Amino acid sequence: MTRLTRADLDALPVYVPGRNVADLARELGIAEAIKLASNEVPFGPLPGVTEAVAEAVTQSHRYPDMGVVQLRDRLAERYGVSPDRIVTGCGSVALAEHLAKATCLPGDEIVYSWRSFEAYPIISAGVGATSVRVPNTAEHGHDLPAMADAITDRTRLVIVCNPNNPTGTSVRRAELDRFLDTVPDDVLVVLDEAYREFVTDDTIPDGLAAYGDRPNVVVLRTMSKAWGLAGLRVGFLVAQPDVAVAIRKVLTPFSTSLVAQAAALAALDAEDEVKRRCALVVAERERVTEALRKLLPEVPSSQSNFVWLPLGDRAAAFGAACEQRGVIVRPFQGDGVRVTIGTPEENDAFLAAAETAL
Ligand SMILES: Cc1ncc(COP(=O)(O)O)c(C=O)c1O
Repeated sequence: MTRLTRADLDALPVYVPGRNVADLARELGIAEAIKLASNEVPFGPLPGVTEAVAEAVTQSHRYPDMGVVQLRDRLAERYGVSPDRIVTGCGSVALAEHLAKATCLPGDEIVYSWRSFEAYPIISAGVGATSVRVPNTAEHGHDLPAMADAITDRTRLVIVCNPNNPTGTSVRRAELDRFLDTVPDDVLVVLDEAYREFVTDDTIPDGLAAYGDRPNVVVLRTMSKAWGLAGLRVGFLVAQPDVAVAIRKVLTPFSTSLVAQAAALAALDAEDEVKRRCALVVAERERVTEALRKLLPEVPSSQSNFVWLPLGDRAAAFGAACEQRGVIVRPFQGDGVRVTIGTPEENDAFLAAAETAL
């Protein structure tokens, strides 16, 4: 058969999203499953978002502002940086893709910890870069000294996921200081802080505040999690202006949609509510962690809106057992299971399922 697409993509895994409620209805006849598989916040859109979306939709026959001026100005004000340092995109996952495109040619290397966000291998392979996966420590976190050692003269990008998805572990200020000091000036370091709003341990640095001024650091944030806009797709990054210019050159034009821009502006007006919701999630995270540790003492401390069960080869069976009880979690076979923090009732249903499954 004539080959029409790149042969190297045959070996690439497809991105596996969390299973959803419709999957369980179809496969198991469970009508109202609880979805704790995609790290969403369970409280619905923030106040003002639905109205802003309804208003924006009336202009949906027009292209959005390609410069995303209003939203970038607003983010700049909120995060205390100049607007020329901000790039928005169709979720932070798209921005990670653009970063790879803006830094790597085929054969270049992208270093990241593993296991980490499952999009990193796909993003790397998409630009023909080589993934250099540095195994997590025994405590399920980044091994920063080993990551520093893994940097070669082919390395263009290093990704530090803090807190790490799916393990919830974090790197602390002193170790990140040391690491960044060893990274060569011509290697870009991405601090992927998708879960920053859930961090309560003040030894874990806010990448923007601590390292935003470093020329080779880019901070990646998303409005999908704490800001409740997963379905509308808005992420942003903060980089030095010259890096931001290069990334804008490879952006898919108009990829922050009109509706997404309006929703993000409305969400930013509701920050007090975001903080209230994050506090609820954090309280539940601590409760769920404590309860789980009675069943599985190795559950690591999480600084995100999910917890990690290091179940190894039992991960898939645990996931299936939870689904039988109407709770969708996220197994990574051979490694563990990630469970998003939901409402107190949803978490109780998960804990009951976990107790039976374990
Ligand atoms: C570490 C990390 N980075 C980035 C993303 C992408 O988020 P989004 O594309 O929705 O902004 C996720 C989503 O799960 C994530 O876990």
